Amino acid sequence: MDSFESNPLSQFSRRSSIKVFTFGVTTAGSGIFLATLQGCSKNDNGPTAPSLTGQKITLTLTSESALQNVGGFIRRSFGSNANGGKEVIVMRFAQSGQDSFETASVTCTHQGCAVNNPSNGTINCPCHGSVFGAQSSNFAKNLSGPAPSPLPTLTTTFDGTTITIAF
Ligand code: FES
Repeated sequence: MDSFESNPLSQFSRRSSIKVFTFGVTTAGSGIFLATLQGCSKNDNGPTAPSLTGQKITLTLTSESALQNVGGFIRRSFGSNANGGKEVIVMRFAQSGQDSFETASVTCTHQGCAVNNPSNGTINCPCHGSVFGAQSSNFAKNLSGPAPSPLPTLTTTFDGTTITIAF
């Protein structure tokens, strides 16, 4: 038996320390749990989209290999005057026509996390599980989870050669 275990006072102190530590961890854990619940409230209005700046960005389709086919997308930022410098997702939904492409901000409308890339018809937020559409019929719409509104979208046109995004 070592000197620590043979000393009753030391054992008391050690047990008390364990209880205090356990209480502290439990209390901290409850706080995190409550904060998470509060963070997932449906009443959270989330971050507002940056206001439009009037800047137009053009992309030449032949230079964008990821946008050659329906379902393809790019994820890119276009400077501080475009979506506040935050990335957007540009996705293709038709081979031709003025409305072949759609653009949405990656900023989740719940608490501002950056959403994942489109996959299997949805765009998911990694923070609290909001799901947004990634199909032509529901692109950027909030489908489930705590996000109170769709991902902000930007007017996007296509003239057969050039994609124009209005920020
Ligand atoms: S930030 Fe909470 S679900 Fe996206």
